[in-house]
Amino acid sequence: MAILVTGGAGYTGSHTCVELLAAGYEIIVLDNFSNSKPESLNRVKELTEKDFPYYKVDLLDRRSLRDVFSNHPIEAVIHLAGLKAVGESTSLPLHYYHNNITGTLILCDVMKEYGVKNMVFSSSATVYGMPERVPISEDFPLSATNPYGRTKLMIEEILCDLFVADSSWSISLLRYFNPIGAHESGRIGEDPSGIPSNLMPFITQVAVGKLNELLVFGNDYPTVDGSGVRDYIHVVDLAQGHVKALERVMSSKGVDAFNLGTGTGYSVLQMIAAFEKAAAVKIPYKIVARRPGDVAICYADPSKAKKELDWMAVRGIEEMCRDSWSWQKKNPDGYDTKVISK
Ligand code: UFG
Repeated sequence: MAILVTGGAGYTGSHTCVELLAAGYEIIVLDNFSNSKPESLNRVKELTEKDFPYYKVDLLDRRSLRDVFSNHPIEAVIHLAGLKAVGESTSLPLHYYHNNITGTLILCDVMKEYGVKNMVFSSSATVYGMPERVPISEDFPLSATNPYGRTKLMIEEILCDLFVADSSWSISLLRYFNPIGAHESGRIGEDPSGIPSNLMPFITQVAVGKLNELLVFGNDYPTVDGSGVRDYIHVVDLAQGHVKALERVMSSKGVDAFNLGTGTGYSVLQMIAAFEKAAAVKIPYKIVARRPGDVAICYADPSKAKKELDWMAVRGIEEMCRDSWSWQKKNPDGYDTKVISK
């Protein structure tokens, strides 16, 4: 029996595949490669010295999806496939709703048809909207401030409804905080297309000379130094959280949400300082206006995941910065980099 990983070629997906293979699982990967490259999967194979099938399949393509379920005995699905750019979702809401929500509906329908009812879903701390206080625990009120966030929230609700209708489903909703870092080998990592909208890939691209300076969005928040505070989590810790959640969905029934964060917040200016120290590179930056829609402070209470999944993030900020830098330095053009220094 195998684990199907949708969106397995992406940033979180590729790291999750490595951890699943390391834990001894057989995997099958689906990806439409709209925002990822098959090269990431070749590197997962190289790193783990394990082989697995992958298919270029879009979740909206029910027939191809059914073929995958017909050809492989699948025990559980880790569902990471989805569009994830907040800004883009505001200009392309229909595209986001169709891709993320319809894609998930078709996936669940096909899973049901083949009697596969175990799912780990890639959700986001975005479902907490503008939280009133921190740390954020799973029982906080949920809301969304943009179409991307609404897709995550709606999918969570759809999956809860699915369990209410049929209690033989077993679902974990993983609410990621801010994943950064890369596999310690520097062979897989985050490869955003175009100019990055997230902080860490922006910093690393400044460091490698692809961008001139970082724009710090606001220094007048009620935080330690006025810049926004987030809960950055090493992507390998995040990936290991998926393995723990998988064990849970395969051994019990129910639907449950878990925060995957460290429980510690760092400001943008603290992140710049930590990166400069880890990489020994200066990051030129300029303070500009706040980015609309940003919250001042967001960090997790990760105690539920510790208690119920036996998982906690163990990698610190130095490691996160070091590994982000190592990946960027070795792959200045991401997976398109032709010559890779070891
Ligand atoms: N920031 C800058 N300059 C930049 C980019 C970001 O100052 O060029 C700041 C932001 O204002 C924020 C912090 O860096 O204070 C982190 O910003 P990111 O864009 O990296 O991350 P966000 O917390 O805004 O968003 C992330 C994910 C979303 C997810 C959200 C959930 O990108 O998908 O966390 O909490 F919805």
